Amino acid sequence: MDLRGIVLAGGTGSRLMPLTKVTNKHLLPIGEKPMIYYPIEKLTSSGIAEILIVTGVEHMGDVVGLLGSGKDFGCRFTYKVQDEAGGIAQALALAENFADDHPIAVILGDNIFQANLKAHAEKFAAQKQGARILLKQVSDPHRFGVAELSDGKVVGIVEKPDEPKSNYAVTGIYFYDSTVFDVIRTLKPSDRGELEITHVNQAYIEKGLMAYDIIEGWWTDAGTFESLNRANELVAKMPPE
Ligand code: DAU
Repeated sequence: MDLRGIVLAGGTGSRLMPLTKVTNKHLLPIGEKPMIYYPIEKLTSSGIAEILIVTGVEHMGDVVGLLGSGKDFGCRFTYKVQDEAGGIAQALALAENFADDHPIAVILGDNIFQANLKAHAEKFAAQKQGARILLKQVSDPHRFGVAELSDGKVVGIVEKPDEPKSNYAVTGIYFYDSTVFDVIRTLKPSDRGELEITHVNQAYIEKGLMAYDIIEGWWTDAGTFESLNRANELVAKMPPE
């Protein structure tokens, strides 16, 4: 399967001010590398060679200056600008031409984790259609999209619920077939004014086309001071595969 990779590295990084006042969150260091290296290396190590980077207009120059053509990573980069931080699904919509009817693997640029994605990509390939998300049990599910599971299926996802129905966070690692762009076209902005990736996932659930895996090893986001510190500690203790 010719899976194409997408790293979403837009957004405002407001929860990390003033670290993000003059730079993009995904250029901040974790261990010995800029944050964005980690999701990129997760895609390349699972055999993906065509990778789209989406980021905001303010720091696109720095992102391109850092990453270049992709030859240092053994891949080929394409870049797209997200004019405003209108949500993860809005950023993903910019990938339609790049995807060119291929299935896609999407990683949020602030997701740092230990496991290799190859086995998950292979399971997604075997699925032929639909979507596949990766879940992780966490102690603070109210910070994430939370999956409700029943009979081995995801039956619902709620974004940042006050009363989570489980402690399974939906990680920012998603596999979609090419119909994802039609799904995004049907979305309306949420109460916070964003096109939500959770609504994309909910649409696949309603069609009975959503599969999931539990991701092995450690996983964290790095969008708050606390989680950025945790990412640094985890990378130092147990480097990603
Ligand atoms: O980390 C996993 C969580 O990520 C999921 O559990 C949630 O369901 C999902 O909504 C998301 O939640 P966050 O509140 O952490 O999303 P955040 O706004 O911090 O954005 C995460 C990444 O997505 C960010 O590092 C870059 C990308 N992004 C985000 C926005 C809002 C964009 O590329 N463009 C955007 O407009």
